[in-house]
Amino acid sequence: MTEVLVEVDDLKVHFPIKRGVFLDRTVGHVKAVDGVDLRIEKGRTYGLVGESGCGKSTLGRALLQLTKPTGGRVNFDGTELTTLPPKQLRQMRKRMQMIFQDPMSSLDPRQNVESILTEGLQAHGIGGDRTERRKLIAKTLDAVGLPQWALSRYPHEFSGGQRQRIGIARAVVLNPELIVADEPVSALDVSIQAQVINLLGDLQEELGLTYLVIAHDLAVVKHISDTVGVMYLGGLVEEASSDDIYRRPLHPYTRALMSAVPVPDPEVEDRRERILLAGDLPSPANPPTGCRFHTRCPWAQPTKCRDDRPSLRIIGTGTHRVACHWAEQIETGEIRPHAVKAEITADGAGAKDAHGALETALETPGGPVV
Ligand SMILES: Nc1ncnc2c1ncn2[C@@H]1O[C@H](COP(=O)(O)OP(=O)(O)O)[C@@H](O)[C@H]1O
Ligand code: SF4
Ligand SMILES: [Mg+2]
Repeated sequence: MTEVLVEVDDLKVHFPIKRGVFLDRTVGHVKAVDGVDLRIEKGRTYGLVGESGCGKSTLGRALLQLTKPTGGRVNFDGTELTTLPPKQLRQMRKRMQMIFQDPMSSLDPRQNVESILTEGLQAHGIGGDRTERRKLIAKTLDAVGLPQWALSRYPHEFSGGQRQRIGIARAVVLNPELIVADEPVSALDVSIQAQVINLLGDLQEELGLTYLVIAHDLAVVKHISDTVGVMYLGGLVEEASSDDIYRRPLHPYTRALMSAVPVPDPEVEDRRERILLAGDLPSPANPPTGCRFHTRCPWAQPTKCRDDRPSLRIIGTGTHRVACHWAEQIETGEIRPHAVKAEITADGAGAKDAHGALETALETPGGPVV
């Protein structure tokens, strides 16, 4: 049996929207994360995907208590973090580290690499005396594939890939158990992305790390993840083992995301279903009622999809969880897709469809069905 390191239960992060001269009148809330349950097992990788603005970074930050959750619970290795007093939380922090998308903006340009790596050790009072810290830092540089001369250099003297290695070294030097990597390769050239992903995989094996890897692109998390969770507008819509989610995506939103990933095999590529979603992501300040995806879903059915929010439920006998009322009927083909007109929402999302340009189009091998 594998042990669970992180357990998230009904996590919510609602940011108040302030208006007025002194910005003290709350006129609404951005529901960035709105009721997420997930578990991450020790030594495993959970890949979290979804389009920009769906709440992935907020979820990652709330998990580490860098953003205070509005509701719900986060249990880390048996300790409830949401109610932990600040002093204990600080001690807990060194066991959980974060890697950011853009190392250039997360690394202080005035600090050399040695100082960047020493800072965290000093802040947490770990790594022993000066000599021991130097040894630890030298070992960490080796582990992330940076030369020792890097110590006296500054972030701008490195390439994007090397800078991300510095960002990884800064996290790993503290000997954490959990790393939240928020879009760790999104800012890198495609040729460098695989190297950084492979490095994360090697470090995990060597150090027994547990990862939450966030990406907006399914292809990035495919190889590194044991479990993949797909997020839409503040909630998880599907969760399964990495193999299952790629072989058998069940939620219409996951199918749309998958349909955007090209397949190397030309024959499979020809047969690939392509779903272009209508409109933009609706505003998390005013999310659609019922199933949050119903305004863009080609399989949406009256009136249940609009009225009832589907919860994540296990489909079949394994661990595959899907938040769709009609997952089984969609899979068997009993419910067929239809055209969707993007709705023009109050904040302008979906307004591009005013000319009918963003209607959902679904193509199957036999040609467009809508
Ligand atoms: N500090 C904040 N205050 C108000 N709204 C925020 C804040 N941080 C994020 N948001 C909003 O929350 C939603 C989710 O953002 P984010 O978690 O960054 O999404 P993602 O990482 O998936 O792109 C967005 O609508 C964003 O504008
Ligand atoms: S519940 Fe309805 S709207 Fe939501 S994904 Fe399923 S079919 Fe589409
Ligand atoms: Mg983000």
